Amino acid sequence: MFSRRRWLQSVAAGLAMPASLLQARGHPLFNNHFQVPMLDQGRRSGQDLYFELSIQSGRASILPAVETPTLGVNQPFLGATLKVKQGDRVHIRVKNQLVKTTTLHWHGMKLPAKADGGPHQPIAPGSQWETRFDIDQPAATLWYHSHQLHKTGVQVYHGLAGMFLIEDEPSRKLGLPSTYGVDDFPVILQDKDFNADGTLQYVTTVRDRMMGKRGKHTLVNGVMRPLLKVERPLIRLRLLNGSNARIYQLEFDDGRPFHLIGSDGGLLEHPVTLHAITLAPAERAEVLVDLSDGAMPILRHRTHKQPFPERGMAMMNRMMGEPMQFDIMQIDATAAVSTPVQIPHRLVSHPLVDLHSVVKQRTFKLGMNRSLDGLTTPDQFTINNKSMDMARIDEVVQAGSVEIWTIKNSTMMPHPFHIHNVQFKVLRRERKPQEHELGFKDTVLVHPFERVQLLIQFPLHRDPETPYMYHCHILEHEDHGMMGQFVVV
Ligand code: C2O
Ligand code: CU
Ligand code: CU
Repeated sequence: MFSRRRWLQSVAAGLAMPASLLQARGHPLFNNHFQVPMLDQGRRSGQDLYFELSIQSGRASILPAVETPTLGVNQPFLGATLKVKQGDRVHIRVKNQLVKTTTLHWHGMKLPAKADGGPHQPIAPGSQWETRFDIDQPAATLWYHSHQLHKTGVQVYHGLAGMFLIEDEPSRKLGLPSTYGVDDFPVILQDKDFNADGTLQYVTTVRDRMMGKRGKHTLVNGVMRPLLKVERPLIRLRLLNGSNARIYQLEFDDGRPFHLIGSDGGLLEHPVTLHAITLAPAERAEVLVDLSDGAMPILRHRTHKQPFPERGMAMMNRMMGEPMQFDIMQIDATAAVSTPVQIPHRLVSHPLVDLHSVVKQRTFKLGMNRSLDGLTTPDQFTINNKSMDMARIDEVVQAGSVEIWTIKNSTMMPHPFHIHNVQFKVLRRERKPQEHELGFKDTVLVHPFERVQLLIQFPLHRDPETPYMYHCHILEHEDHGMMGQFVVV
């Protein structure tokens, strides 16, 4: 006789069939179509490359049964991927078709300050902004996003972000996977919350303001839990943490290794084999994944035990129920079975920046204002005890010079610190450096109470009038004061 209890147990077991078992039978668990942002390579005339971008509102079917109002660039949600070559002269016309003022900033690009697209280059509703700059840096995965003063968080959250890829000859010769949407995929990670009517839910609580907006659902290129079907045994994923505030620790559920080949500023000198990678907001990592075994791995977030005592926010996070683990996307490589693939041993060589050429050191202390009620000041966050002021130039830098910037985090939460117009090297840090910090970076995660030293060579563009920004890339921190301005003269 089948007891009721045993029957219940077997039903429950059937429902909760372990992932590994389902996959062993050849069923992917995820079924939403992996969306590849539209590719825009501009209109070319010799070295001149012309882009026409339109910032627009749209709708996306993210949840079943309801539509979500979104923002995008040349598409309804998120931005088209722009692709250029080193040496190109890029002309971009940006039309703002929204009813709100916005900007487009080219994150990671070395360019004249007037072309930067930061808060000093606003585009009013219905108007357009024309900009032009030369691509004078190696192949890299950069991105672009809104940088409207006090509104960056809400605009990026709704979709004003896209990828900006640079190619060059040395990287082409390496023969890395580089066919867009075939073996070379953008992976824009953004986490969201939704209201019942499908609209995106932005900052609602004091905690969102303090720690930055984090959502329960991580989307990949605007899709929840997508399945990427690949036909090539070796693929390149261009991971971008486009989230407002969430720090991801990424790994595959089957423990497979992957090969890190690039950081924010371009390729590393040689690939590094990893099993997990931490990406803070705005950071990018290019990885190669060998799928010649034809498996169906899931890319997931998993918080690892920290090798140091939990302090401050880390502990608070855990107590406040931040999820320790969640799945993000699945790859179906059943059509990609092949003999094992080859990974190049060497990639590119990085120009050496001589420490003797350092002419100046500066320190930036990341902090918080503590007003009596703690949370209602508009400018809650500070750098060197000051909140962002559009009318104040904080630092003046000599064009072409080499400097060391020390970023000191005096708070109990981590802050990803970003500097416009440069690609720096992490010279020294208190915590163990991550492998992608061997490469050029434009954003670096500074842990609670940590001190990180950056070696920076500033490009030659001079403009005493127009500042570049440096700021925390937790967008709610940036929007509430943790930003400063420098000019290059
Ligand atoms: Cu990604 Cu100042 O920004
Ligand atoms: Cu930037
Ligand atoms: Cu911050």
